[in-house]
Amino acid sequence: MPTLSRRAAAVPASPIRKLVPYADAAKARGLHVHHLNIGQPDIETPELMRRGLAELRDPVIAYGPSAGDAAMQQMLATYYRGLGVDCAPSEVLVTTGGSEAVLFALAACLDVDDEVLIPDPMYANYIGFAAVLGTRVVPVPTRVEEGYHLPAGRLAGYVTPRTRAVLLCNPSNPTGAVYTEAEVQAVIDLCVEHDLFLIADEVYREFVYDGPMPRSVLTYAGLGDRAIVVDSLSKRYSLCGGRVGCLISRNRDVMAAGLRLAQARLSPPALGQLVGARAALLDPGYFAGVRAEYARRRNVVYAALSSMPGVTVHRPEGAFYAMARLPVPDAERFVIWMLESFSRDGRTTMVAPGSGFYATPGAGMDEVRIAYVLEESALGDAMDLLAEGLKAFPG
Ligand SMILES: Cc1ncc(COP(=O)(O)O)c(C=O)c1O
Repeated sequence: MPTLSRRAAAVPASPIRKLVPYADAAKARGLHVHHLNIGQPDIETPELMRRGLAELRDPVIAYGPSAGDAAMQQMLATYYRGLGVDCAPSEVLVTTGGSEAVLFALAACLDVDDEVLIPDPMYANYIGFAAVLGTRVVPVPTRVEEGYHLPAGRLAGYVTPRTRAVLLCNPSNPTGAVYTEAEVQAVIDLCVEHDLFLIADEVYREFVYDGPMPRSVLTYAGLGDRAIVVDSLSKRYSLCGGRVGCLISRNRDVMAAGLRLAQARLSPPALGQLVGARAALLDPGYFAGVRAEYARRRNVVYAALSSMPGVTVHRPEGAFYAMARLPVPDAERFVIWMLESFSRDGRTTMVAPGSGFYATPGAGMDEVRIAYVLEESALGDAMDLLAEGLKAFPG
């Protein structure tokens, strides 16, 4: 019997998705499951954008250019100009979601066994992509007590001769931390000192609730061509299924490598780009409304978690996630129990077990990640059910 590659064995199941069969079974039994396990917003994709599909005239849904359709590149370049980043449409590489941009960035910067420093906990799929590429994720621990921030000097001790890059997700999934200018500057200084790439995952850029939007790393002149930005339309326009994202860097070698990788997968999704390019038509006030909605949801979740006995949580500052430490020894068992053995009036709540967001072995066993992606009343109900579940959990 042929065996699988070590690489395949090293790719972990997604903590966001691996327990979905339990949710499906609960639904088959007639339960309503509040899904707070996945960052799939219930916000409507703007109608103006969805109309793009109705304008499909071409009788063939064909391959497009590997770097993306012209209208999509144009939309992204204009959007970036609004952020103070001067880039031409041809300097934007459109990808199949931000996911592919992460993969391309890591593939372009790291060889097998090279190291990338990432604050831990982290977006779980970084671990999977690194495993596919045979590169090493070096987790830099952060703590709930410090709001998952990066005190000065936190990263420096983790640099080795094999370090090639730092990957910073700002605002952070899963912690909700928004790194301060000083923290970002310290990371930039480290990258300059050790000549490292800074891969910045900025997909939640607009989702900040207590202060200004963080500057894109592309606006820090001192970083030069070490800056690589990974971005996505998934969250910004509630367009997760459109699978459109992008990679941007001033580093011509990185972009040329990205384009070669993009050519190998032919072209990004035609239909998603048709919809995505129409973001150019949205009212400039669009984000303010979305941000206000998520700020209210953040408050609901934070207030609920703070009032649960034994739960430790930090007030998330951005993205739409909260990590919480629960008074249970094994949060994954608790999540499964909520789906298999708990319900009130035909409803239960699903969250994501925290350990899968850590690259540090054994970390996060008593934590969960909660995505506040439902409207306030559903979210309030989901949090009530979570609180009741915690009280009733026999483990
Ligand atoms: C931090 C972060 N980066 C990248 C992605 C990838 O998103 P997509 O591939 O839908 O653009 C996600 C999705 O949840 C995310 O949370």
